[in-house]
Amino acid sequence: MGFLRLRLQSHRLLPLPSQVFPLPHPLFYPCQNPKPIPLTCNYPIQSTRSRGGIPQLRALATEAVPAPAPTMVKGITVHEHGGPEVLKWEDVEIGEPKEGEIRVKNKAIGLNFIDVYFRKGVYKPPALPFTPGMEAAGVVTAVGPGLTGKQVGDLVAYAGAPMGSYAEEQILPADKVVPVPSSIDPITAASIMLKGMTAQFLLRRCFKVEPGHTILVQAAAGGVGSLLSQWASALGATVIGTVSTEEKAAQAKDDGCHHVIINKEEDFVARVNEITSGNGVDVVYDSIGKDTFEGSLACLKTRGYMVSFGQSSGTPDPVPLSALAVKSLFLTRPSLMQYNTTRDELLESAGEVFGNVASGVLRVRVNHTYPLSQTAQAQADLESRKTSGSVVLIP
Ligand SMILES: NC(=O)c1ccc[n+]([C@@H]2O[C@H](COP(=O)([O-])OP(=O)(O)OC[C@H]3O[C@@H](n4cnc5c(N)ncnc54)[C@H](OP(=O)(O)O)[C@@H]3O)[C@@H](O)[C@H]2O)c1
Repeated sequence: MGFLRLRLQSHRLLPLPSQVFPLPHPLFYPCQNPKPIPLTCNYPIQSTRSRGGIPQLRALATEAVPAPAPTMVKGITVHEHGGPEVLKWEDVEIGEPKEGEIRVKNKAIGLNFIDVYFRKGVYKPPALPFTPGMEAAGVVTAVGPGLTGKQVGDLVAYAGAPMGSYAEEQILPADKVVPVPSSIDPITAASIMLKGMTAQFLLRRCFKVEPGHTILVQAAAGGVGSLLSQWASALGATVIGTVSTEEKAAQAKDDGCHHVIINKEEDFVARVNEITSGNGVDVVYDSIGKDTFEGSLACLKTRGYMVSFGQSSGTPDPVPLSALAVKSLFLTRPSLMQYNTTRDELLESAGEVFGNVASGVLRVRVNHTYPLSQTAQAQADLESRKTSGSVVLIP
């Protein structure tokens, strides 16, 4: 079995980002590999740091012989864009898997900020009404025609398109799920698919963090931020993290941040300047957006990289090229979906995340769980900055 061959891409400047996604959202570009594929593949690769075994598809004994699946399951539906109150707990029609598809009974569902963007209409869903959710781990309960191997009963996880994980069960393209290693439970898996693979592409492929780099992680105690901080620290970088409270600061320190800035009390630009003796940082990973974008640019060293990968506080204002020219800065607005466009990329990315969890490089902080029926409360808490680490919904 081979070891993970990391794609050591050189840093590259992507096209200047538009400040909003075009319609339809890139998550809904057609699948590039619609062919049925066997689910019984092992990971072709393993993390260079993983000390665990190669993850295998595994069956949960209690799920091995499912009863005939109902067409209707309980889930969350959004009929109109708006606040958390538009998240309705209803019957959801899911149907049966067609060719190349599987039916999955979700054990745990990851809550992500992107779910808030779709609920609000910041990103456009394919249609209204829709069932949100882009991350889950669950048990295969049925397979469509054309798939080979023993799939029913396998524990799988997925992140990204298609939406619909906020439901007891869902239909998924088989080539979008990955087997969950036996060392990882469903709640952990549902916490690290989207967030962990985001940390992977940001640190390993978008800008390749190396020992000696100094980096700034905005929202360092958040779901993605916690994993980014731990992983970057393990890679040998000096990590500066921003958070809003003392409690989150303690978590960020524990996650390997060498310096933590409480942005409600301190001017983060001035503090970064002080910490770096006026040199600035090599890269900023900014997921906060509107409130921090300009300051993040100011924190960069000459030829530094601005990685704007989210907008929890709102979409950043348009950036004039002159704002980059002053320090010959690089700017990218990356999305996980464009970094996991092939099945190989998905398996490499998930394999490295699972490997780092198994080896202890990443400690997954599942700080909040909610019943799926209470998703509205969970999203309200995420939006109002009450959460830290990962938030998981339990069907
Ligand atoms: N580009 C991609 O492919 C990709 C993939 C995954 C996630 N993301 C982005 O990564 C970010 C983090 O996602 P997550 O799910 O892990 O969420 P999260 O970081 O757990 O939650 C957002 C955090 O942002 C901070 N924040 C600062 N200002 C805020 C404001 N005005 N409103 C809300 N939060 C604010 C808060 O931390 P403090 O209280 O400490 O300030 C809050 O806890 C999101 O922007 C998301 O869109 C992007």
